[in-house]
Amino acid sequence: MRGEQDEKPETRRLLFLGVLAPWRFHYCSCFSLASLAVRGWVVGLWLAALVALPALAQPKLDIPYVPTPHVVVDEMLRLANVGPRDLVIDLGSGDGRIVITAAKKFGARGIGVELDFHLLIQSEESARQAGVEDRVKFLEQDLFKAELSQATVITLYLLPSVMRKLKPKLLDLKPGTRLVAHEFDLEDWKPDRQTTIRKNVFLWIVPAKAAGRWQARLPIPPIERLLEIAITQRYQEVSANAWLNGVQAQVWEMTLSGDRLSFVIVDSTDRDNEANLYFEGRVTGNAIEGEVARGVGNARATFKWRAVRSGS
Ligand SMILES: C[S@@+](CC[C@H](N)C(=O)[O-])C[C@H]1O[C@@H](n2cnc3c(N)ncnc32)[C@H](O)[C@@H]1O
Repeated sequence: MRGEQDEKPETRRLLFLGVLAPWRFHYCSCFSLASLAVRGWVVGLWLAALVALPALAQPKLDIPYVPTPHVVVDEMLRLANVGPRDLVIDLGSGDGRIVITAAKKFGARGIGVELDFHLLIQSEESARQAGVEDRVKFLEQDLFKAELSQATVITLYLLPSVMRKLKPKLLDLKPGTRLVAHEFDLEDWKPDRQTTIRKNVFLWIVPAKAAGRWQARLPIPPIERLLEIAITQRYQEVSANAWLNGVQAQVWEMTLSGDRLSFVIVDSTDRDNEANLYFEGRVTGNAIEGEVARGVGNARATFKWRAVRSGS
């Protein structure tokens, strides 16, 4: 199945007819001055079309076609934990093998974005042969213009310069979107996970935007505590300073995975009854909501907590 953005094959078919039709006219027409004039005009058009045809047939590619070996495709999809609820988009999809494998072996849906017309035709044929044509589609489209907001997994086998150019767009995707790349990484954006089985494979989980100052009231008996926390963030790496009822408290073990934030603060409000506060929450816009557990084992008690962003 090919998508709505696909306009070029039709253009190409028309141009093809435009090239052949004048040639038929030229061949059949009689030898009058008028027909010669028309023929001159038509031959001119025909020559112009001949010059334009290779340009249309060969769109400018930002990356040459080099397929990912099948075992590396398997590893990319395994590392990204692809499943039936995923929509996998492969940017620069080549012969379609990544999205076809995602559909066939993992039950996902897939979209391949590719500029090479012949590879698109090949992908559609391979999808039919694999019996997954109802779960995948291939768009003839520039990967920089692809709509990515519905993707849960994006696969990339692209040159470093292309990865660099795509990075801001990738970082702005819905928190939790998984990005999995073969061979080339995203430079200073460190992967969340990485494996090497013949080739390097990198996984990133798009982090929520957690940086800023946050305030929360913690309904922990015997007295409510006011938590103020200032989070600094570089990609998924987070750290923070915190104050509990105005007293500085160190923040331990802070992690951010997609929209999931967790950290620990030692509650020393009652010096004789110190306990760890284990925070977990989801960052959604300017709020963090989740659970905080005070203490461990039999002494563990959990409470809901909600923080709002009070500044940047
Ligand atoms: C290195 S190959 C990767 C193919 C496939 N993803 C795989 O891993 O087997 C890169 C692909 O990107 C395609 N490509 C290059 N520039 C593109 C662009 N601007 N938009 C869409 N596809 C592009 C190429 O035609 C090629 O098929």
